[in-house]
Amino acid sequence: MKRSKLKIGIVGCGAIGTSLAKAISTDFSDKAELASLYDADVEKSFHLAGNSNRKAAALNLEDLLNKVDLVIESAKADSAFEVARKAMYLAKDVLVMSVGGIAEHYGELAALAKEKGGRLFVPSGAICGIDGIKAANCGKINKVVLTTKKPPKAFLGVRYILKNKIRLDNIDKDTVIFEGSAYSATKLFPQNINVAATLSLAGIGLEKTLVRIVASPGLKQNMHEIEVESDSGTIFVRCANLIHPSNPKTSYLAVLSAIATLKKILEPVSIGT
Ligand SMILES: NC(=O)c1ccc[n+]([C@@H]2O[C@H](COP(=O)([O-])OP(=O)(O)OC[C@H]3O[C@@H](n4cnc5c(N)ncnc54)[C@H](O)[C@@H]3O)[C@@H](O)[C@H]2O)c1
Repeated sequence: MKRSKLKIGIVGCGAIGTSLAKAISTDFSDKAELASLYDADVEKSFHLAGNSNRKAAALNLEDLLNKVDLVIESAKADSAFEVARKAMYLAKDVLVMSVGGIAEHYGELAALAKEKGGRLFVPSGAICGIDGIKAANCGKINKVVLTTKKPPKAFLGVRYILKNKIRLDNIDKDTVIFEGSAYSATKLFPQNINVAATLSLAGIGLEKTLVRIVASPGLKQNMHEIEVESDSGTIFVRCANLIHPSNPKTSYLAVLSAIATLKKILEPVSIGT
């Protein structure tokens, strides 16, 4: 039976949104269509829609929600929950990239999904190993530690850095700038540490997951190391991610992970946990 194309809308037309729009129009054109685009800076949505798909550019979120089956949120942590909540209230499926913005509201979104019938997708993003952690969590996980290392400039403009008067340009060796729970990390570094939120949702939660953030001069990549101790054994994962050419805060792997999740949604066969 031939299914109708999945109508996809993208909220946030920056580095990730732009890459995903291209993937939908090329790799998935037989199963999906880019039905709507919205950015707080409407110039960006019009630019990404281009002349060939001008009617896709939406002037506000509600306009986009009315046109789509699946909403991709690739905007900002402080608006991610509102986008997901409004979409799920209308029984739409939602794929969230700004995971730090929804993590503490996860229960509310899961309840909405159950009540209205929409689904919530959280790609692994910039980390690997979520498959093993989900499996280990079906038994008992005792400890999860994430160490994230990024070049100092990746933390430019972060309020925590400004408040604590950390001089990023003075950092000349690996320096731990934060150590604490994933809950605090997602509050203090909302645009930098989505991976901590994803890891927490897949494992033992925001309070119990421990996070260390290191500013590392000379580093050209974003590094994430995950250590897990569980009743099924230990897991150690290390990702050295190349950064997205349009946004040094974003790993290219995060974009590909969203594309892989779209594939999982659209294809009948799915490999991996
Ligand atoms: N899950 C992960 O592992 C992972 C990895 C990297 C980035 N991210 C997150 O994904 C999001 C997008 O990343 P990016 O690199 O594309 O960022 P970006 O800054 O390149 O683009 C974000 C876009 O969203 C728009 N925007 C901001 N607030 C908005 C709102 N309320 N409504 C609509 N549009 C809005 C901005 O104008 C901008 O065009 C960020 O929140 C980032 O932290 C997640």
